[in-house]
Amino acid sequence: REIAVINGPNLNLLGVREPEVYGTESLQDINDKMSHLADELGVSLRFRQSNAEHELVEYIHQCYADQVSGIVINPAAFTHTSVALRDALLATEIPFIEVHLSNIHARESFRSQSWLSDVAIGTITGMGSKGYLMALRYWQD
Ligand code: DQA
Repeated sequence: REIAVINGPNLNLLGVREPEVYGTESLQDINDKMSHLADELGVSLRFRQSNAEHELVEYIHQCYADQVSGIVINPAAFTHTSVALRDALLATEIPFIEVHLSNIHARESFRSQSWLSDVAIGTITGMGSKGYLMALRYWQD
């Protein structure tokens, strides 16, 4: 099966962006670890990062067209704003896990509101980059 790993705005800056909050690994480092684990699990992965909401919406549509089985998504700031991402995930009915590096419930109050959590399979928040690997393991046979 194929799983899409989707990262939202500013996550291209991981490693240099507020490392005390988000860690020192780059997004490429994290994706490499995921690829390694995916080989072990016998899962294939596709990756996408974008800073643009409409690109993420269109990418989710593409995942549907390509019959992707599941999504691991860190929607970043769009978590707290995007009805469009929520609707794309609902429209395509692709099961997804929401991941955040930081604990969104332990920060500014606006971050504890997510437009995706109640329609996700589950959420992983505050486990740093390990959260992505934990999410991937959900699709282990
Ligand atoms: C984030 C948390 C969001 O509140 C923030 O806007 C991000 C990253 C995280 O991974 O901790 O960009 O999703």
